[in-house]
Amino acid sequence: MRVSLCLFAVAYFIAGACAGKLPTFIKACSVSDPKLNQCIESAITVAGPKFAQGIPELGIKPLDPAELGKVVVNNPALKIILEDTVVTGLGGFKINSFKMNVEKGKAVLDFTANVTLKAHYDMDGKVLIVPIRGNGQAKIKITNLRIVIKYDFKSVDGYWTVTDHKDSYKMDRAQFKFTNLFNGNKELADTTIRFLNENWEIIMQEIAPPAMDQIIVACVEEVRKLFLAVPADQLLSQ
Ligand SMILES: *[C@@H]1O[C@H](CO)[C@@H](O)[C@H](O)[C@H]1NC(C)=O
Repeated sequence: MRVSLCLFAVAYFIAGACAGKLPTFIKACSVSDPKLNQCIESAITVAGPKFAQGIPELGIKPLDPAELGKVVVNNPALKIILEDTVVTGLGGFKINSFKMNVEKGKAVLDFTANVTLKAHYDMDGKVLIVPIRGNGQAKIKITNLRIVIKYDFKSVDGYWTVTDHKDSYKMDRAQFKFTNLFNGNKELADTTIRFLNENWEIIMQEIAPPAMDQIIVACVEEVRKLFLAVPADQLLSQ
């Protein structure tokens, strides 16, 4: 009796550990909930910051900080190489809305975050007519970065797969710090930084597309891993 009870406990524990892959901090909503979108919005609000720390058991990497590695701006007038690029702040996002159409397999996630990008930079070229050159540490603070990700998904063998995604983004403002501009010529560097911050939109037009692309790919990639690890009916109960 004792042995069988013990075996039962072990079996139960293993079954529990294997079947319930949904991390405890993610609340599953019900597909029949008339306020499904709102339910998911609040589930994302609660789970998001933890999710952004990564879930090692499921192979999900942190999104805050998100390590982007190398980001290259290849404009003939302005060459920028960012290396060891790290973005912080995504975990502090606020959700604007989440909309899902289960039958059509479409969803839209709309959120805003204040993020900071840090990297080693190497830059050479011109912004408008102002020459810029240097290499050192770059810090870019982006206020109210709003990202909208539209994705298509379908259920394959009981798991969601993301088949396509489109994205858009905008921001209220970006502020730059670059150390060692013009080999440390302070006067020239200070004037240039002021110029860059006044004309942040022009320089962000160059930096944002490759950087945002990598940020969004990282977000989609980690969500994809969650969908691979957790059966669809655990994420959205019937
Ligand atoms: C970003 O920071 C500004 C203040 O600097 C604040 O007003 C805004 O609510 C923040 N946005 C988010 C999404 O936290």
